[in-house]
Amino acid sequence: MRTYIKNSVVLVILVSLASCSNKRQRQFQYMPDMYVSVPYDADASVSLTSEISSNLKPVEKTIARGWVPYEYENSNQGYDLAKAELKSPLIKDELNLENGKKMYGIYCVSCHGKKGDGNGWLVQKEKIGGVPAYNDAGRNISEGSIYHVLMYGKGIMGSHSSQLTHKERWQITQYVEKLKKDLN
Ligand code: HEC
Repeated sequence: MRTYIKNSVVLVILVSLASCSNKRQRQFQYMPDMYVSVPYDADASVSLTSEISSNLKPVEKTIARGWVPYEYENSNQGYDLAKAELKSPLIKDELNLENGKKMYGIYCVSCHGKKGDGNGWLVQKEKIGGVPAYNDAGRNISEGSIYHVLMYGKGIMGSHSSQLTHKERWQITQYVEKLKKDLN
């Protein structure tokens, strides 16, 4: 048993010496993905560590999971069409309203105010102006137009299409409609 252990130790030492002896030759790389991380060469057509590039272009007409296409154009015409005919696919219930309220508190309240009267704290501090109340008669917003504005933004209000999912945008829309009703 002792000689066996002794021999093994000698063998391990010999192997490790041999593997490092020739400095001119490329050495064996253990676990290459620990030296070269997978996204390291993200632009390469074939990555260093695997046969499949991490940056292959998706097949044409591929839709990302969870993405719902939006058909209305970013134009006055698109806005008018959405305002007239676009309807929410969600049922109007407490759960959707509750989450809409939560999202509104994160993304909209700073400009539009708690009640949707256009008097958020950014407006009060005069950091931003021209924020309308949701019951502004001249605008006469509808669920379609609210959703459209969330997709593309309007004037100095930016698009919220990347921060919010399709469902969240419709939930916020439901909440904005409620605020509008309460203002009237
Ligand atoms: C940075 C401030 C700001 C934030 C944040 C913001 N808005 Fe606005 N919003 C504006 C301004 C300013 C306008 C007026 C734009 C215009 O008509 O030029 C506006 C207009 C609107 C309108 C009326 C558009 C129309 O059809 O006339 C709606 C509806 C609206 N916002 C909803 C939202 C919702 C919902 C959120 C949150 C997801 C939000 N906004 C976030 C500033 C903001």
